[in-house]
Amino acid sequence: MSSYPMIRLRRTRASAWSRALHREVQVTPADLIWPLFVTEGTGVEDPIASLPGVSRWSVDGIVARAKDAVAAGIPCLALFPNTQPERRSEDGREALNPDNLMCRAIRAIKDACGDEIGVLTDVALDPYTSHGQDGLIDAAGYVLNDATVEVLVGQSLNQAAAGADVIAPSDMMDGRIAAIRAALEGEGHHNVQIMSYAAKYASAFYGPFRDAVGSRGLLKGDKKTYQMDPGNAEEALREVELDLAEGADSVMVKPGLPYLDIVARVKQAFGVPVFAYQVSGEYAMIEAAVAAGAADRDAMVLETLLAFKRAGCSGVLTYHALHAARLLGA
Ligand code: PBG
Repeated sequence: MSSYPMIRLRRTRASAWSRALHREVQVTPADLIWPLFVTEGTGVEDPIASLPGVSRWSVDGIVARAKDAVAAGIPCLALFPNTQPERRSEDGREALNPDNLMCRAIRAIKDACGDEIGVLTDVALDPYTSHGQDGLIDAAGYVLNDATVEVLVGQSLNQAAAGADVIAPSDMMDGRIAAIRAALEGEGHHNVQIMSYAAKYASAFYGPFRDAVGSRGLLKGDKKTYQMDPGNAEEALREVELDLAEGADSVMVKPGLPYLDIVARVKQAFGVPVFAYQVSGEYAMIEAAVAAGAADRDAMVLETLLAFKRAGCSGVLTYHALHAARLLGA
């Protein structure tokens, strides 16, 4: 009885209305977080060659982009600074400057948009160090864990004081979530969230991002002593478990599409808000396929976003956020 031809799975696929009715997950502009790169100056738009269609914007331009995002229904921005070479140092101390580019951008967005949009800020030292690593290094170039965590705490408090809504540590040091949460509570920032880059892999997909923040040419070696090995999944669950226990409000998996198995396992194991970062190399792959005439941008963007939702994501960080939000309609 329960077999063909009584059962035909093509019946519900036969028309657009029925496909819409039966779609299991939806993507809306509210699922998107838009990463933006900030640069010095006024009226500056500085295109990033390896990320076609993405630019660094001076603070005034960032405010304009924030207003675009609000109009398109995007709930949150993620900010990254392109720090001038003369402000970079071995210890990345510019991260602690209350008037650094990041803090000025946060304040400008919050002044212009208030609670209409959330501001998520990346915590890690790579945009500020002269060596491009995410933390402090010893004489051999090894990234020191505990000394780095102390600086990350200061960086987090600096961003929170400027008005950041979500602190997003992307550094992969051990113990940083507990240290940052305790410091935020101590300073009265009870409602400042932490979205932890909990399962962040040492990936080949970050190249264009490093161009965007100006760290690619500076970085010697790799980040494999702190970012995860791409072969590991069980370890990702341990990373997530620890970050949740230390006080993370939500967790992130990064990169995105090559790691959807991790998203699905994290969601199943913990049932917490999980986000994925469709990173710069993933964006560049889609744009390269479009430029080569191999695929349709709109269809690829929407299909990849649907895949993230299907895997269990609450939301996705993507450089296509504004384009996607406009396609989806506010
Ligand atoms: C830095 C950081 C990176 C990204 C986000 N935060 C790069 C890295 O770890 O080297 C990558 C994002 C992207 O590729 O879009 N801590």
